[in-house]
Amino acid sequence: MMGTGDALVDVLISPAGEELLARISGVTAAGTAPLPMQRALRSDYPADLVRLALRVAEARRAATAKYPDAGRLLFTPELLEQATAHPVARHRASRFEGCGPVLDLGCGAGGDLTRLAGAGLPVAGLERDPLAAALARANLMLSGLEGRVDDGEYPGADLPPHEALFADPARRGPGRGPAGSQRRYDPRQFSPSPRELRPLLEKTRVWAVKWGPGLGLDHETLTAPGAILEGFSPAQYAVEVVGWQGTVREAVLWGGEDLQRGAAVPGAPRLATVLDGGLADAKASTYAGDPVVAPPPLSEPAAYLAEPDGTLLCAGLLDAFAREHGLAALATDIAYLTAPACFASPWLRWWRRLESVPWSPARLQAALDRHDAGSVVIKKRGFPLTPEQVRAGLTLRGSRELTVLLHRADAGRSVHPGYLAHLAEPCPAPSF
Ligand SMILES: C[S@@+](CC[C@H](N)C(=O)[O-])C[C@H]1O[C@@H](n2cnc3c(N)ncnc32)[C@H](O)[C@@H]1O
Repeated sequence: MMGTGDALVDVLISPAGEELLARISGVTAAGTAPLPMQRALRSDYPADLVRLALRVAEARRAATAKYPDAGRLLFTPELLEQATAHPVARHRASRFEGCGPVLDLGCGAGGDLTRLAGAGLPVAGLERDPLAAALARANLMLSGLEGRVDDGEYPGADLPPHEALFADPARRGPGRGPAGSQRRYDPRQFSPSPRELRPLLEKTRVWAVKWGPGLGLDHETLTAPGAILEGFSPAQYAVEVVGWQGTVREAVLWGGEDLQRGAAVPGAPRLATVLDGGLADAKASTYAGDPVVAPPPLSEPAAYLAEPDGTLLCAGLLDAFAREHGLAALATDIAYLTAPACFASPWLRWWRRLESVPWSPARLQAALDRHDAGSVVIKKRGFPLTPEQVRAGLTLRGSRELTVLLHRADAGRSVHPGYLAHLAEPCPAPSF
């Protein structure tokens, strides 16, 4: 179905539009072509086309951080900001493998839609913003991919036929933020809202809803009255947290009757997925576990110290992971782990421990001198000072690059109550 955004986008993807984009791409500052150039462009092209082309050119420059094929995609800066980066979208798309046609509900300019289609899935998008819908259609076409995108608002619009559903609800609404919009933190204000999505979840074989990692992923929050999974049992859905380049990128709620079969979608309650690698070649490793297990045992620091990846913490899987891998915790509710030997894992960053001292500036300084520290990376968990405040009190006279890990110790349990400082050297990441 064509919409009002198409006329301009059609010109933009015509040879005349490509020429216009090429003229603009010589411009340096983001989105702000020098005024004489803008005047020249406006004398050669319609003003609304120039306005759109300037925004598309700006977005294209920024899109290289998200898409290996940024050079052929069309976004505006606002639509690009909302779009899922390629490695994350591609990984999610791979989980739909073997499903029938996938509906991308609220597909924006098609960041996810093009990756779903690129995974070989039959796709259809629905989008209420006519310009976004037109760009999504163009992006499918420019990528040589099949798929349809309808203009329309759900609920109300007819939904294209589908067997699987993906929704990435808009978290911005009218307000005083950038481009006249403002971020929403209450899921009831997302669009489509949980109440609107719910009937679709109940009748779709496989569904995935992109969810904010910070929204509260525990069973009670997700299934509370009015929440998106109200009344669901833990067996009826899965939560996947996905990280890339050391940052948690998204949480996804998965469900549908096919979840039980563990086929295209994960069949475990919680998943922590790390995407390791660059924009085009990141490989996924998934740890699946149960978020409701007892914490790992506490221990005095052993030969190696480890910090878990944020995906484990966000997915509530640190305890299960630590127990399964024989790791002990240095203190209650402190996410530094310890073990007598290190092992390859995409979920752990390791250090070899050199010495541990009860925290005081003088004791830490003496330990740093003993180990010839010339520069330090300071990390902390449950520790009251900032790394900068700690660093300001130190004099580094040596030649080695060391790491200091600071954390609260358990009162009454540790031989070092109060706070501990561990001096350590980074282990070369064992390959996995
Ligand atoms: C977060 S963006 C989607 C971005 C997309 N996943 C990507 O990677 O490019 C959400 C989109 O949903 C659209 N949307 C919000 N509510 C909608 C509704 N009720 N019906 C149709 N589209 C909707 C918005 O216009 C917006 O473009």
